[in-house]
Amino acid sequence: PGRMPGVCRCVSAPSAEETAFKTKVARNANMAKLQAGYLFPELARRRSAHMSKYPDAKVISLGIGDTTEPIPDDITSAMAMRAHSLGTFEGYSGYGAEQGDKKLRANIALTYYKDLGIEETDIFVSDGAKCDISRLQLLFGSQVKMAVQDPSYPAYVDSSVIMGQTGLFQKDIEKYANIEYMRCVPENDFFPDLSSISQADVIYFCSPNNPTGSTATRDQLTQLVQFAKDNGSIIVFDSAYAMYISDDSPRSIYEIPGAKEVAIEISSFSKYAGFTGVRLGWTVVPKELLFADGFPVAKDFNRIVSTCFNGASNIAQAGGLACLSPAGLKAMQNTINFYKENTKIIVDTFTSLGFNVYGGKNAPYVWVQFPGRSSWDVFTEILEKGHVVITPGSGFGPGGESFIRVSAFGHRENILEAAKRIKQLYQ
Ligand code: MLT
Repeated sequence: PGRMPGVCRCVSAPSAEETAFKTKVARNANMAKLQAGYLFPELARRRSAHMSKYPDAKVISLGIGDTTEPIPDDITSAMAMRAHSLGTFEGYSGYGAEQGDKKLRANIALTYYKDLGIEETDIFVSDGAKCDISRLQLLFGSQVKMAVQDPSYPAYVDSSVIMGQTGLFQKDIEKYANIEYMRCVPENDFFPDLSSISQADVIYFCSPNNPTGSTATRDQLTQLVQFAKDNGSIIVFDSAYAMYISDDSPRSIYEIPGAKEVAIEISSFSKYAGFTGVRLGWTVVPKELLFADGFPVAKDFNRIVSTCFNGASNIAQAGGLACLSPAGLKAMQNTINFYKENTKIIVDTFTSLGFNVYGGKNAPYVWVQFPGRSSWDVFTEILEKGHVVITPGSGFGPGGESFIRVSAFGHRENILEAAKRIKQLYQ
């Protein structure tokens, strides 16, 4: 029998607990420790809510650091050619080496680590730095203690929590137990006081830094390497923004003598070539890096990669090779220079308004201080009144409270428009 139109059949709504079928599988207790959703999806959620509230507003996103400019032609042509060749008998290939295409590994070693003693076999090509951060957590397991810069890119801490390396979140100090938070603030020039850091097995260090945009000097990185040597720690050095450096700060941790014995480096084509969607990165695990029992870290990482990964997409890897050709390198540098000009516009805007502004010089992120204010309040203010999305500094850890991060990834007209709105808001 059909339902009568216009007749409302009211049924009492049973609660989810009464009706929902439950499996007998216990929830992973480590997942339950996580405080909230991952930072960037949360920003996207708030942006969507804002857009529903103000459907006519032209919202500008300077929140997540997502590239906006087209991938240079030389690089897309190489990917298109590879994609087409997959449609031919001669050009088809299936699984590649889990560690990546030999030629690409060799080219990465030659382009970024020439004269630093890093070889093709030390390079593991991946689908991006973020994915490798989680694979590294699997490599280290649940028993290690991590140290991170505070503030830091949230994937380090969240993946450590998921892996079971931490205790519960301590609400009063906004930190997870059993993580060493290395405070990086203007007062210490964004470089931690290493003498105050207690023993940590794995030290995550990002330079140029996401989110503060600061870059460690050669002298500071020398101290860091020495600190790792003295304590027997392993550094995971995230150099995803290295090509944004315009002064003589080291672009790789391996520029520091002795680093091969204590450091892994992760990097990515995402922010150089606009590969955030294509997905291609790499991790360097030098053969000199050994565990306490003398076993090479690279051998275990190779085992993890072979088990958890089938290699980066062959099309993306063709793009990676093109990135490293002379034309590709030049095209990437042009894209980076474009974003660096955006950065300058953002830095000048906040500086002219009298804010304390950090970063920006060697990184596509600008770190602005709002003394005494909550980062999320400033986020809401800029979104509500300026229709601009930024990232609240506290999303990167307690050390980011009262700061905001402004990303320089955007079309020029959007950056200029955002700068105009921010000026109107804070003049
Ligand atoms: C960011 O906004 O911090 C980056 O886009 C995150 C990432 O690279 O995954």
